[in-house]
Amino acid sequence: EGGGAPTLLSGGHAMHRNHSSGGEVAALTGDVSAPADIKFELVAQQKEITLASGATIDAWTYNGQLAPELRVRQGDMVEVKLVNQDIDKGVTIHWHGYNVPNAMDGVPGMTQNVVKPGQSFTYKFRAKQAGTYWFHSHQQAAEQVIKGLFGTLIVDPKNETEVYDEEFTVVTHRWETDRGYKTAFGDQDQAQTKQVAPGRKIRLRIVNTHNLSQKYMLQGVDYRIVSIDGVDIQEPDRLPDSTAFRLASGGRYDIAFTMPDLPVLFKLGEGKHDGKPSLLFDTDTRPQTESPSFEAEFAWFDPSQYGKAVVNGTTSAVKFDREFTMILGNKMGFYNGKFHFLWTINGKVHPNTPTFVVKEGENVKTTFVNRSLTEHPMHLHGHHMTVLKKNGKPVKTPWMTDTLNVLPGETYEVAFIADNPGMWMDHCHNLDHAATGMILHLMYD
Ligand code: C2O
Ligand code: CU
Repeated sequence: EGGGAPTLLSGGHAMHRNHSSGGEVAALTGDVSAPADIKFELVAQQKEITLASGATIDAWTYNGQLAPELRVRQGDMVEVKLVNQDIDKGVTIHWHGYNVPNAMDGVPGMTQNVVKPGQSFTYKFRAKQAGTYWFHSHQQAAEQVIKGLFGTLIVDPKNETEVYDEEFTVVTHRWETDRGYKTAFGDQDQAQTKQVAPGRKIRLRIVNTHNLSQKYMLQGVDYRIVSIDGVDIQEPDRLPDSTAFRLASGGRYDIAFTMPDLPVLFKLGEGKHDGKPSLLFDTDTRPQTESPSFEAEFAWFDPSQYGKAVVNGTTSAVKFDREFTMILGNKMGFYNGKFHFLWTINGKVHPNTPTFVVKEGENVKTTFVNRSLTEHPMHLHGHHMTVLKKNGKPVKTPWMTDTLNVLPGETYEVAFIADNPGMWMDHCHNLDHAATGMILHLMYD
């Protein structure tokens, strides 16, 4: 543990598990005997980066870039060598939403040792899930993710069911720059225009790397949300023009539309265009004559009644093998020697929060109850959760997520199959909340 400074997400009651013995190895590392189909190297390094507006960031990056993309094909054996050039407190890579074997999960002090300057660590896993994911350092994540130690992991499906003519990945982050905080799509903190011909099928992959949920809206066209947290929605309904949606910290939505004859605007925030970055898709066939009404009335997207309900072992369960409750709250207490606002699970602050113990194969239900006055995007490592009930009532369309935003006063019941042995974190993805208490561990017996 880093002397004096908070270790943040590095697992306070550090359990250095030794994976080098016996039969545990295969389960926790996965079968990595096959040669890699694709290899990457990510060098963690400090780098001054200039946004489109000219504002500069003293960023901490992988490969000197803001949100570099790793793109692989479903089924590939993926190898990623992480090299730490000059990030003093060490780095790791956590594959957010990607259900890798435990030893590849990137949680320092729990699944691996932190990678110090001059050191490296090689991640290797089979790309089983297709879709939109991201990765980030899990060492002192509250600081490192904000400063830029993240990128996207895009896994193209083995069999394309839907072919798109154009794809864009939009990563929304909030940077601390020499001109104050700036919300940006990658390094674009200003409006951008993309020329797209009418009739083209477009897929936008939206990743929220910010600590808080963000609101987005697409105006000028009907669209569909085709995937949530990397999981495809079956039979996604058409959402009317100007439907807004809220994406949890750490969450991803993929949206799809067919380019109409008039411009389409994708923007942050539900209200007026208030100087936040936006993406204007413009037809390239003729000069723009009218722009869509950006002040139009809007409706909210609701995943609990959208598309076809997910059906799996958790939705058909009559009884769960384990049931846990996480009451999300806060209290004042000492943290790093200072009187501080702390975030609690069942009244406790990490590392004194409970550990949930499950057995492989069990059907596990967790109830989140938010008794505080702010949202908590709850992220479970290594598994996707199926959302079954909201505020005590079964949802119309259970859906799958790895990061569920729980608003003040809300209660959700989610369930997952314990099919990925190891020791995992379940924490708030407002990384400041995680750093000051809101983490617990899930362990396999
Ligand atoms: Cu994206 Cu434990 O985090
Ligand atoms: Cu929180």
